Parts: sequence; structure tokens; C-alpha cells
Amino acid sequence: MDPRPVERRFLWCLIVAVLACPVADARASDALRGHEHLLTHAYLPPDFDQEVFDALWTMWEEPLRSRAEAAPVAERRRMAMERYGLLPHPDDPSRSVQYVVGVDGSWTMSCLACHQGQVGGRLIPGAPNSSYALETLTEDVRMLKVKQRKPLGHMDMGSLLLPLGTTNGTTNAVIFGVALMRHRDAALNIVQRPPRFDLVHHDMDAPAWWHYRRRNSLYADGFAAKGHRMLMQFLLVKENGPEKFAAWEDEFRDIEAWIAALEPPRWPGAIDASLAAAGQGVFAAHCASCHGTYGPDGSYPERLVSIDEVGTDRVRLDSLTAKERSELNASWFGHMGADGADLADRAAGTGYVAPPLDGVWASAPYFHNGSVPTLWHVLHPGERPTVWRRTPTGYDESRVGLEVEERDALPEGKLLPSVRRQYFDTRKPGKSAAGHDFPDALSADEKTAVLEYLKTL
Ligand code: HEC
Ligand code: HEC
Repeated sequence: MDPRPVERRFLWCLIVAVLACPVADARASDALRGHEHLLTHAYLPPDFDQEVFDALWTMWEEPLRSRAEAAPVAERRRMAMERYGLLPHPDDPSRSVQYVVGVDGSWTMSCLACHQGQVGGRLIPGAPNSSYALETLTEDVRMLKVKQRKPLGHMDMGSLLLPLGTTNGTTNAVIFGVALMRHRDAALNIVQRPPRFDLVHHDMDAPAWWHYRRRNSLYADGFAAKGHRMLMQFLLVKENGPEKFAAWEDEFRDIEAWIAALEPPRWPGAIDASLAAAGQGVFAAHCASCHGTYGPDGSYPERLVSIDEVGTDRVRLDSLTAKERSELNASWFGHMGADGADLADRAAGTGYVAPPLDGVWASAPYFHNGSVPTLWHVLHPGERPTVWRRTPTGYDESRVGLEVEERDALPEGKLLPSVRRQYFDTRKPGKSAAGHDFPDALSADEKTAVLEYLKTL
């Protein structure tokens, strides 16, 4: 499907905002500049070049490889994007919107690799990339570079020490940050410390960016101070010293403006208004105390719910220590503790923040670890699949979320790693789909009504 219409319409809205509303002028143009930085500025060393990308198919298993061999170049590129969960750039389908491609043909991962996805084949600004196959991409790139005798990059090497993501659509992003921060002091100077071997690797589903404006703290456990500096953690590779962080601060003010300007997308289908109105009442009685209210007078409590009460997977909480949480806010990223002073009691990591549910239809899969494929499954805790696999871009309109194949176990026999990563196995550590049993208090009719209401947010 062509991703352009949504993207264009969104930019158009921003342009109209610039022309029509003088007060919003400055912020809207900052936001547009921020989007431009995300698309064009490579803040990390390059991952690979065009020649590598165009030959990746030679590393694929059969019958995919033969199919690619017989296909024209444009089709091969489309197949590569599908395999790795990438989206074609609206202006140039030979490259991906999630990587910055330089004039020399080098591809560099950007924030959008995890934070720009598709829903039902349509690009929606700020939707998480629930298809990203980072580990498979990195493995294929490394094998090909060895064959082409090209030097290995930081991802090729880093992934030998650290798992990148064991299920497509989720990444070990939190632990990348912990591992990189280990070699910095509070002012981000590089310091030599022995590597840590006690890291708790686990995969996370990136949150929707349109929640940013609603929140006062960041991350699943809500401990991190909100601000443009906190957004720069992803740039902690050794090539970026403290002077680069200082030099790029203004660009990240613009990037923050872009993220904060994002609106939740509207449900594109029909809505049964009277059913949704009934659902609103049920939601007010059973859900709003944690998730807030919506519409013009809506308010969001940003409530931290203890792990015992919510009962979802706890590995994410145990993967960070209180010291690591407080040191992050006390570093340059939190203006040496000036940001997030009100979050001090969250350093202990006692639970997860109930997220805002605006545009929730477009941010499947659900929960911080992405373990539940649809809103229907969130509402039916006893029916959540043990193992599931999504179709490449299928959207399930009736259950509201990813179109999936549900299974009791992985397929028999030995699976190639690239195939195994297509399956979400909720029995693995950090991947449990249990908990959040609050919907059990609802009757079947009430659940149907709440599902309809959730589409309207
Ligand atoms: C490899 C994937 C990946 C990349 C690349 C990445 N992020 Fe994230 N991001 C995540 C994940 C996963 C989380 C959730 C972490 C958590 O809650 O513990 C997250 C959380 C966030 C949040 C917090 C949202 C919230 O509601 O709490 C913001 C904002 C954000 N990222 C911005 C960025 C920016 C800006 C960049 C680029 C400089 C970036 N991210 C690069 C995966 C990524
Ligand atoms: C006691 C507080 C509480 C109540 C009550 C509650 N929730 Fe939640 N909800 C949470 C928390 C905390 C999370 C995050 C869990 C996680 O990610 O591990 C969550 C997550 C969710 C998510 C997934 C959001 C996402 O983007 O991944 C949905 C959907 C949701 N809740 C819907 C509901 C509905 C519908 C109700 C009412 C039937 C409800 N919740 C009642 C606390 C609550």
C-alpha cells in the first residue's frame, strides 16, 4: 500500500497550523524541522551501504532466495523491506524511511527504526514499528559483509555481545541504554569500566510517540524525566563524546517539538455510536481511575500501578536498579537532577504506569513487552494465545489489533532463527502475557461495548 497519503495529510495539517495560527507558528516550524532532522541527520556511525542492502537477498534461505534472484531490483528491495520490517521512503522507495541514507549511499539507523511503523500497510506518524526485525537484519548484514570483505560496524560487533531482539517488532532497547551508560560519567565523559555480565536482557515494544504530550515522565515504569536531553540516550555510542551531545541539543529541541505535536490517529472504520456510548459508561466505572478520561475535558492521572496489582511481566522492572534509575536523572540527560526531582520515589521501580489510551487501536501489540496482539485479547485475559505470529501487514478490524495466527506451541522441528523470531512465545522470560485481569469484572456485553469505545479514543 502507498504510505504517502497519510504522511502528506499530516504534513499538510502542520503547514495549515503554521499559516493559520500565529501563536503556534514557532512550535509548528520547530516540529517540522525536527521531523527533517529525523529523516536526514545520521547521529550514529553508518550500519551498511546501498550495495550491502541490495545484495542482502543472497543471504536468505530458500525458496525466498530463488524468488528474489528471479525478481527485478525494485521487487527485491520490497522483499527486503518486508523481511526486516522496514517501510519505503515516501519520496524514494529504494530506501527506507527508518534509516538515514547519505549521499555516499550509507544507511544509518534512526529513531524511526523503532518509532515509525505501519498499521494495515499505512504509515502512521509516531506509530511504533511492530515489524522491525533488527536481529535478523544485523545477522544478514554481518554475514554479507564478511563475504564482501567489508569492515564490520558497531551493530555487527555489538550484537555479538548483546541480543538485539528475540521477537520481531520488539527490541532489547532498555539494556542497550544500560550497557552504554555504564561507560559514561554523569557529564557523559567516556570512562573505562569493566563490562557487566549480569544484564537482564529482555525485549520491549516501543510506545506510541503521540502519548508524549500527555505524559510528565517517560518509560513503562515512569521514572525518567521528560525533556529533549532524555531523548538523546540512543546516541551514546563511543564515537559520540560529550561535545556532540552539546552540539546536537538544539536539534533535539526540534525533535522533541515534533514528537510532542503528534496527534493520535483516528479509527478509519465505522463506529457503532450507541454501543460506544455504553462502553464509555463501563470504561468510566472500571478503567478511568487508572487510564483517565477522554474527549475535550479529558484528564490523565499518569498513575503508577504496583506490579502486584497489575500482574503483567515483571522482568522490565527487575532489569534496572534503583541506582541506575536515579543516576540517569542525575546525569546530563536530566540536567544533573534539575529535571525529574518529583520522580525520586519512582527510582525503586515498584510498578508500571497505566498508559494513555489515545489512538490505542493503532499501537498493537499491547503491554510494555508487546505480548498481547489485539485489544480483544486484552479484554479476554483467559483467551490470550501462548504463541502467536502476525501476518506481514494484516490488521484485525474486529478484534482491533494485529492479524495473527494463534498456536499452543512453536511449530515442530528446528526453526531457522529468522523464522523463530516471527513467533511471539509468551512462555519465554520477559514475554509473559499474563496479568491486567481487570476486564474479568465485565460481562461479555460490557466487553463488546468497551472494545467499541476504545476505537473512538
Ligand atoms: C531500538 C529501538 C529504539 C530506537 C532506535 C529508539 N527507541 Fe525510543 N524507545 C524504544 C523502547 C523499547 C522504548 C520503551 C522503553 C521503556 O518504556 O522502558 C522507547 C521509549 C521512548 C520514549 C518514551 C515514550 C513514553 O511514552 O514513555 C521516547 C520519547 C523515545 N523512545 C524517543 C526516542 C528517540 C527520540 C529516539 C532516537 C534518538 C529513539 N527513541 C530511538 C525503542 C527505541
Ligand atoms: C488498577 C489500574 C488499572 C485498571 C483499573 C485498568 N488498567 Fe489497563 N493498564 C494498567 C497498567 C498499569 C497497564 C500497563 C501494563 C503493562 O504494560 O505491563 C495497562 C495497560 C492497558 C492496555 C494496554 C495499553 C498499551 O498501549 O499497551 C489497555 C488496552 C488497557 N490497559 C485497557 C484497560 C481497560 C479497557 C480497562 C478497564 C476494563 C483497564 N485497562 C483497567 C492499569 C489499569
